[in-house]
Amino acid sequence: MPRFSKAVSSLRSSEIRDLMTLASRPDIISFAGGMPGNDLFPVQAIEDLFKALDIKKKRIAFQYGPTPGLPSLLESLSGFLEKKGLPVHTNRLLITTGSQQGLNLLGKAFIDPHDPVLVENPCFIGALSAFRSYDAELRGVPVDRDGIVMEALQQEIDKKEKPKFLYITPYFHNPAGLLYSSERKEQLITALQGRDIPLIEDDAYGDLYFFEEDREQLKPIKAINPEGIEICYTGSFSKILGPGLRLGWMLVPEEIYQKCELIKQSADACSPSFTQVLADEFIRSGQIYSYIATVRQEYKRRANAMVSALKEHLPNYVQWNEPRGGFYLWLTLPEETDATKIVQLAIEGGAVFVIGKTFDPAGTHNNSLRLSYCNNTLEQIAEGIPIVARAIRQVCG
Ligand SMILES: Cc1ncc(COP(=O)(O)O)c(C=O)c1O
Repeated sequence: MPRFSKAVSSLRSSEIRDLMTLASRPDIISFAGGMPGNDLFPVQAIEDLFKALDIKKKRIAFQYGPTPGLPSLLESLSGFLEKKGLPVHTNRLLITTGSQQGLNLLGKAFIDPHDPVLVENPCFIGALSAFRSYDAELRGVPVDRDGIVMEALQQEIDKKEKPKFLYITPYFHNPAGLLYSSERKEQLITALQGRDIPLIEDDAYGDLYFFEEDREQLKPIKAINPEGIEICYTGSFSKILGPGLRLGWMLVPEEIYQKCELIKQSADACSPSFTQVLADEFIRSGQIYSYIATVRQEYKRRANAMVSALKEHLPNYVQWNEPRGGFYLWLTLPEETDATKIVQLAIEGGAVFVIGKTFDPAGTHNNSLRLSYCNNTLEQIAEGIPIVARAIRQVCG
């Protein structure tokens, strides 16, 4: 028996990954993955950009690069982020290998075994597994339609053993699909100010809004730049260009940057130069803006199709909110429901999704499920949702 470390021994293959294996069966309609639309990638644009590069840049693409990222990408990305009002000049930007790596680096920077860490419940599974890998004691704080529930958060903050940090996904939450209200962000800021509890603000989906009028609400807390809170802002090219590039970023205060850079050196030395060159060109050519505008419209179309299908087929005891952006719809079923039974029936019928307990830090709460509409045609949505609805009725009546 290999003698694995304690932290690694407690890691289990996530249900989401196991389900993905099932979902890869060609006859199954999958609402499970949080993957961008396969048909939407800017394949031709990237091919043309690469072809047009001079030989010097092509060689840079093949070479190792500096750990914090290629200077040219750091510059163009700063411009992209500055448009969101982010404080790129008073903080430091670090390119990461997906924002998943950003969460992992921050986990390593802050967590000692058994340290309490605050997360939303439900919470993005990748964050849970990153923090678990450093043996964090995860404390889930519930969310409602406007964001994290303040009374529950306050109780956690006031506990004697101070949490190492709070991790949130305020903009088109994965899995709950919610968008934090401006009031809730203000309350959160007030609760954290001067408490020495850093905030990790994960903004993987903020660009994918469906309604112009939400733009003010999408302003990152990092851009509000409140006094007295250390904010680690993370973002990603995955949903606005392609996850295969494996590129994300973090914008963090100097001291945290210094540590994360050192940790990254030992993790992978640098993120892929090849994709950094491509992402840089994609930003500098301005195509990133038109591309995001196109996919926003397409995801909105898919979300609308799923919403209409759900309205038509779901029993009225199922609660859910209409998405205003991002990839996800979150269904809440009667309290005692076990979504595992529902997914088993749905798979038999030919559709799959992710069950609620996957996103519960304690791994127990299971009367909910996540549907994603991002990587499906309208036909698949029209065909698959009745299968999901039938499975729900079979279990819940
Ligand atoms: C909320 C959230 N954060 C971070 C990530 C990680 O994305 P990546 O590592 O591809 O940048 C994801 C991916 O699904 C996500 O949903």
